[in-house]
Amino acid sequence: MARKKNQSKKNSTVRHLIAKLNPRSPVSEQYRTVRTNLQFASVDEELRSILVTSAGPTDGKSMTTANLAVVYAQQGKKVLLIDADLRKPTVHYTFRLDNLKGLSNVLVGESTLETATNNSEVDNLDIISSGPIPPNPSELLASKRMEQLLSDAKVTYDLIIFDTPPTLAVTDAQVLANIVDGSLLVIRSKQTELEAAIKAKEALEPAKAKLLGTVLNDREKDKSNNYYYYYGNN
Ligand SMILES: Nc1ncnc2c1ncn2[C@@H]1O[C@H](COP(=O)(O)OP(=O)(O)O)[C@@H](O)[C@H]1O
Ligand SMILES: [Mg+2]
Repeated sequence: MARKKNQSKKNSTVRHLIAKLNPRSPVSEQYRTVRTNLQFASVDEELRSILVTSAGPTDGKSMTTANLAVVYAQQGKKVLLIDADLRKPTVHYTFRLDNLKGLSNVLVGESTLETATNNSEVDNLDIISSGPIPPNPSELLASKRMEQLLSDAKVTYDLIIFDTPPTLAVTDAQVLANIVDGSLLVIRSKQTELEAAIKAKEALEPAKAKLLGTVLNDREKDKSNNYYYYYGNN
């Protein structure tokens, strides 16, 4: 996804969802292209659950997840976005939720799927924010309750999409990759080291989920070519 020059890379609390605010922009078009390519990447089976991850922090996982969730919802799919980054959650900032209740509460049995789910301002898109940060995220994400939550969510939603922490720091994304249908790896131009990206890919490969492909985020806009996204199979 292209980024305007001089734009702050900081993980600020003000976050704009381009696919919602400006659905006709070329960047929103790129998210729709990622959506289409995901459909191509899984022709034989319908994708019901996917996770988005990357090697390191600030590669653009949360931005990609949120915008993808929006373009799927705009397509008429009933979508649930779950913030499974129980370490540095940001989904509640993007969707302006209080995050008093969320995934962590469901995973410890304090809340139900229904009570933890928020409506978003986007039709067809519901959100579960992280909830309070727990001391043991990997353990919670590997729990039976997590599997139960996913299968319960599938009754109501066409697609469940997870935001996750970086793969190189912690195992949370790998753990989740064992229960979702597919994973998507974000690589940030001029930031993600090649070696780190390869390690991230290797970390996801043993998981049950199919590695659906990669998204190159923040590529300099190429004047000669409008199609400046890149999407590759592994
Ligand atoms: N292509 C881009 N253009 C502009 N800002 C971006 C882009 N990708 C990421 N950012 C910004 O970089 C920061 C980190 O992105 P984020 O999606 O939160 O990363 P991660 O979830 O991988 O840590 C955020 O402030 C986000 O708005
Ligand atoms: Mg994030």
